[in-house]
Amino acid sequence: MDSSKIIDGKAVAQKVEAEVSKAVAALKEKGIFPKLVTVLVGEDPASQMYVRMKHKACERVGILASDCLLSATISEKELLDVILSLNADKTVSSILVQLPLPKHICAQTVMNAIDPKKDADGFHPFNMGNLLINEEGLVPCTPKGIIRLLEEYKIDVQGKNAVVVGHSNVVGKPMAAMLLNRNATVSVCHIFTKDLKSYTINADILVIGVGVKHLIQEDMVKSGVVVFDVGINQDATGTHGDVDFANVIHKASLITPVPGGVGPMTIAILMTHVVQCAKLVAL
Ligand code: GUN
Repeated sequence: MDSSKIIDGKAVAQKVEAEVSKAVAALKEKGIFPKLVTVLVGEDPASQMYVRMKHKACERVGILASDCLLSATISEKELLDVILSLNADKTVSSILVQLPLPKHICAQTVMNAIDPKKDADGFHPFNMGNLLINEEGLVPCTPKGIIRLLEEYKIDVQGKNAVVVGHSNVVGKPMAAMLLNRNATVSVCHIFTKDLKSYTINADILVIGVGVKHLIQEDMVKSGVVVFDVGINQDATGTHGDVDFANVIHKASLITPVPGGVGPMTIAILMTHVVQCAKLVAL
């Protein structure tokens, strides 16, 4: 395997965390103490693991983190009341509600209730709307992490063909908006797209996150493509991406592995958001 082709998300995430540590120290000098509250509803093991990883990152960069653990049977109204009290709490600079939420709770209603200034995930419609008009502030962390990787690897997207596979509010749609803001020509595909290959074969930059193990094979991409794999598919043999890394790497000029590519960047960008929120709240 040609390791010079691998986008090292872990290394870039460490660099971002070092920047955040400095920013946090500077804020503390001014008497501002960034604090993230993670709201976790229920006991889903994957969500518990993600929240633990976020708390560990906070610890590494000097951000205060606290848990708000709620029963899976909490009503939507009770959860909204929790959010409103966190909005009003001046010691809390950022709020993150771990997704997915139980089916009886509308996730968008909950996102809408978070103070946009405390919106660590960038999921509030105010922040999403700003992204669409090229006023990027707090924006979803995974696509922002990919933009940072593009910058770190000096890949100019202007005029390039970018193909995004997936149209969720968390990755696909904000990713497409960020690439469009940087003057890429963007195609957005998804699991209902007919003849996916007819799009992916033209991609200079390919971002995929649909949760289908090894959906992208080497015959679906052109030589020199830059690939960002957001897929996380667990099975008995381990964790796999949406890209068949072992064969697509032969065609790619750069590619993210799974794990160790985009994942660590999501959390590092989240840390930058907590700093951003602390500044916005202190204004
Ligand atoms: N669940 C899976 N990814 C995410 C994320 O980026 N933020 C939140 N809040 N929940 C998630």
